[in-house]
Order: sequence, then structure tokens, then C-alpha cells
Amino acid sequence: MSISIDTTCIHGKNHIEENHPYRSLTTPIFQVATFAHPGIGKSTGYDYSRVGNPTRDDLEQVVNDLEHGSGCLATTNGMAAIWLTLELFSPGDHIVASEDLYGGSVRLFDAVRDSHGLSVDYINTSHPELVRKAINEHTKALYIETPSNPMMEVTDLSEMRKIADEHGLLLIVDNTFLSPYYQNPIDFGADIVIHSGTKYLEGHNDTLAGFVISKTADLHDKLSFLYKTTGPCLAPFDCFLVLRGIKTLAVRLERQQENAIRIAKWLRSNKNVTDVYYVGLEDHPGYETNKKQTRGFGGMISFRTKDKETAERVLAKVKIITFAESLGGVESLITYPMIQTHGYIDPQVREKLGITDTLLRLSVGIEDADDLIRDLEQAFNE
Ligand SMILES: Cc1ncc(COP(=O)(O)O)c(C=O)c1O
Repeated sequence: MSISIDTTCIHGKNHIEENHPYRSLTTPIFQVATFAHPGIGKSTGYDYSRVGNPTRDDLEQVVNDLEHGSGCLATTNGMAAIWLTLELFSPGDHIVASEDLYGGSVRLFDAVRDSHGLSVDYINTSHPELVRKAINEHTKALYIETPSNPMMEVTDLSEMRKIADEHGLLLIVDNTFLSPYYQNPIDFGADIVIHSGTKYLEGHNDTLAGFVISKTADLHDKLSFLYKTTGPCLAPFDCFLVLRGIKTLAVRLERQQENAIRIAKWLRSNKNVTDVYYVGLEDHPGYETNKKQTRGFGGMISFRTKDKETAERVLAKVKIITFAESLGGVESLITYPMIQTHGYIDPQVREKLGITDTLLRLSVGIEDADDLIRDLEQAFNE
């Protein structure tokens, strides 16, 4: 029986609850490091929680189902998921990445450049011809965020797949911004999907988590070996919280998107705002491409105020919306990318990308949209 994504969020594709002891409706927290062996060479299927844990297995199964993968690994946070993926590469390898990328990912790429001998070129991946030009004989992967953080650039995943095929590259997509509810990169050719599970998947701003989902069993096996060897495993209680969060992914995202559409339109009509970057606005340059490869636009909006003073006033005066650094949760958060998420990026690069002192990023929550608009209204007022 085929089941919808909304139902998958609650039960997984195969009713994960059916295997639980006593048929408990929610996944029990197996707060355990080690499991007894029934005999020499025998196992219950679980031996040691770094390698496998029943609570984590349920979570990985649901996320794998949601992302249409062949295997999923749950990590301590999103950075650990990216780090694990980078362990697939060898010294001398080269990666072409989206230039508008979460600042922490750039910081990690810089760190591995020095420690692992990897090199990364940052390109505007919404232009496939620029990606083709950046590839050299050492290139092993394309690393994409779409929509990107924070400028909401959209990259055509099918075009990236074509380029990856032409050069035998891995296509890696960080799908944090839209979540599997709106976008499934594997369906458009991604080999690996990464998530900061801290964001939409968990959804309540109270747990860190990360995921690496592979398109093929072979890739999942390689990553599983690295996972058990290096050990970035998500703890059982955190797995339980993320499983609980995912149950409401569909309803949360519907509401977040509905609110975001209203707020983006309101921002657009505000005389203190010069630009609104939201993929759900029909004149967004990536609107058609995004529509082709997703089921929605999500709840992330960036916007530019008329001057720095206005940006600072909004950050200081918001009451319901919180000035904080994260996204995807039920609470609306406003971020100053220049000094927070992208504080690490070279100021010249930031300037070129448009991450300036007038750029704000809003992660729209599930509060009442009228309250959020009223809050922004009073925050804009001098
Ligand atoms: C797009 C994206 N990827 C990865 C990360 C890293 O995730 P975490 O904070 O869970 O380590 C973030 C964090 O903000 C992010 O926005």
C-alpha cells in the first residue's frame, strides 16, 4: 500500500511501531550502551550503541523513508553529518560547492583543506555553465544548498546531475532549508542528502541532530563503516525527541509556509524594505526551477532593510519573533547573517554575495501570522 508523506512522518513507511516491545505506540528510549550476546557468535541484532541502537534505528528508518534513500545515519548535529560525508574523500580531491552556503560549512571546508588536503571552489551553482568551468581533473563532488543560505539562490538539481554524470562526480545536497516535506533531492539525482536535523526535522529548537542519507546501499555501507569507526552517533534520548518532532513535520511546514507567504508579501509592501528573497514569490529568479523540483517554498525569508539603522532597530525591537541563530522551529527567529551564521565568511566575499549590514533572515514559525506581522510593524517603527 502506498502511503503519503504526512502518514510517513508519523509511522514511517512500514509502521515502525509494529516491532516495538509490548506494541508501544511510540519508540521507547533504549538508553543503553551495550547489549548482551545470547551466545558466542550470536547477536540480538544489537551489540553496541555506536554501531546500532533500536531508538536510533527507528529514527533513521523514518528519515530514510522521507528522503527516498537506501540508508540513513543520524549524527550528533548537522556539522557532524557534513564532516562524516567529507571523510569519503582523499587528499588532493577537489569539490565544487555553492558559493552561498551556511557559514559553518565553509569554516569546515577551510579546516579540511588544511588538515585533509581537500580543496573547494565556491561557485554560483544556479548557473550550470559556471559549475562546468570550475571542474578540474581532481574534482570528485558537487556540494549544493538549494535554496541557499541566506540568499535563497535556487540550483537546478537535474542540471547538476547531468554535470555529475559527465565527470563521474558525487552530487551532495544539503536539504536543511526545505526539509523532505518539500524537497527530495535523491529523486532529482542526488547521491547524498545532508540535513541539520536541528532545524525543520526536529522543529522545536531544543535538540541538535544531523542526517546523512544515501541513494545507494553501496554508499550507505561506506558511510556506515566511517560512522561506526569515528562515532558521531545521535544519543537515544535525542533520537526520541527528533522522532517526536518529525510526527508534526507536515502540519508545521504547511503552517510555516502559509505564514511565510503572507509575511513575504507584507515585507514587500513595506517602505523600509528594499528587497525580499523568498522562493515563493513568483518573480524570484529561481521560482520556476524551485517549483520543478519541490512541492513548496518553505518558511525561510531573507530581506534587506533601507539602511543599517533599520536592520538594527528591527533586531532590537521584535518581541514575539526572537533575535537568535537557528531556523526551522515552531518559534519565529530573526538572524543577522553578517555577524551570526556567516560571521566566519571573508568580508569581501560576504559583500559580493549581498550578506551586508542591511540583510536580515527570518525563520517563520507557527505563531499567528497577524501577530508576527504586527510584531514586525512595531519593530520597523522609529
Ligand atoms: C543549511 C545548514 N546546514 C548545516 C547546518 C549545521 O547544522 P547544526 O547546527 O545542526 O550542526 C546549518 C546550521 O545552521 C545549516 O543552516
